[in-house]
Amino acid sequence: MRILITGGTGFIGKQLAQRLLAAGHFTLDGQAAQAIERITLFDAFPGEGLPQDPRLEVITGDIADRATVARITDGADLVWHLAAVVSAAAEADFDLGMQVNLHGLLNLLETLREQGRGTRLVFSSGFAVFGGALPEVVSDNTVVTPQSSYGMQKAVGELLVADYARKGFIDGRVLRLPTVVVRPGKPNKAASTFFSSIIREPLNGLPAVCPVSPDTEVFISSPRRILQAMQHAMQLAPERLGNERIIALPGLTTQVGEMVAALERVAGKQAAQLIQWQHDPAIERIVCSWPTRVDSPRALALGFEADTDFDSIVQAHIEDTRG
Ligand SMILES: NC(=O)c1ccc[n+]([C@@H]2O[C@H](COP(=O)([O-])OP(=O)(O)OC[C@H]3O[C@@H](n4cnc5c(N)ncnc54)[C@H](O)[C@@H]3O)[C@@H](O)[C@H]2O)c1
Repeated sequence: MRILITGGTGFIGKQLAQRLLAAGHFTLDGQAAQAIERITLFDAFPGEGLPQDPRLEVITGDIADRATVARITDGADLVWHLAAVVSAAAEADFDLGMQVNLHGLLNLLETLREQGRGTRLVFSSGFAVFGGALPEVVSDNTVVTPQSSYGMQKAVGELLVADYARKGFIDGRVLRLPTVVVRPGKPNKAASTFFSSIIREPLNGLPAVCPVSPDTEVFISSPRRILQAMQHAMQLAPERLGNERIIALPGLTTQVGEMVAALERVAGKQAAQLIQWQHDPAIERIVCSWPTRVDSPRALALGFEADTDFDSIVQAHIEDTRG
């Protein structure tokens, strides 16, 4: 089995590759386990800290370049499409966001369509497809109303993947991801990056800035749950999905103040005191436009699971990053 992960040297891509390599095989519902022969990580950047493994190859390039996409998809049985310009960056540079998030996806879909193999693909979307005046609880049937260019690009991408699947050009699946917290490593250009920084940096004895007030609500998922979901979405037999290809993941609704309280319970008062509260209206406007209460009956029925409390997420982050 040959696997392609676009955006593969990014946060989720790298961890997904590590998990797959450690397992050594991958099982699609109703089929026998297949050995993983090769994982190609395609990304604009070579990344760092990747496992040394003969089954792993890293290719750098631009997802918006059609010839490159033809080359990286050649022979791929499964594709996780994670490459993206994330929220604040796509908002700051409209052309770049369109090029990567929309035209890059279209390149990939058209290339797979030309290849005619009905390749199975998971596309990572997010709850940024919602914004503005929302119902108190967003459900599987809530109409998408993005309030950022990134959210719009993800919303269009969801529809594209669903329709290419309906036409049988690919076997596509869309995962609508909550904000993933605690993200290891360094901050990125996502507007939501501080949700991780305010936990990760104090755990390392470093200061962090929180641009929103403690009563700000957020809908999150841990990296562990997301990695499980990424694999589960790929494994699901197409018959279980039918033409309904967009899966809104369940998650945990919490508040920034509750996250900081969990940090304090796990790491002590001195950790929480490293957070500096500096209001940033631009960041607040983006993150507060996203839904915080989500009902995901379909994902739950398909076997996806949510985190239950934030203390466990902090503990898991410590275990995963410190061994
Ligand atoms: N982490 C989250 O909280 C979250 C939430 C919702 C959705 N998502 C989505 O999940 C996916 C993965 O997220 P992540 O947190 O790992 O982000 P990330 O920024 O770590 O990874 C995205 C990768 O895409 C790469 N990339 C950007 N432009 C590219 C181009 N032109 N060609 C090839 N690669 C390019 C980046 O270099 C980066 O490594 C993204 O599509 C993101 O929008 C993430």
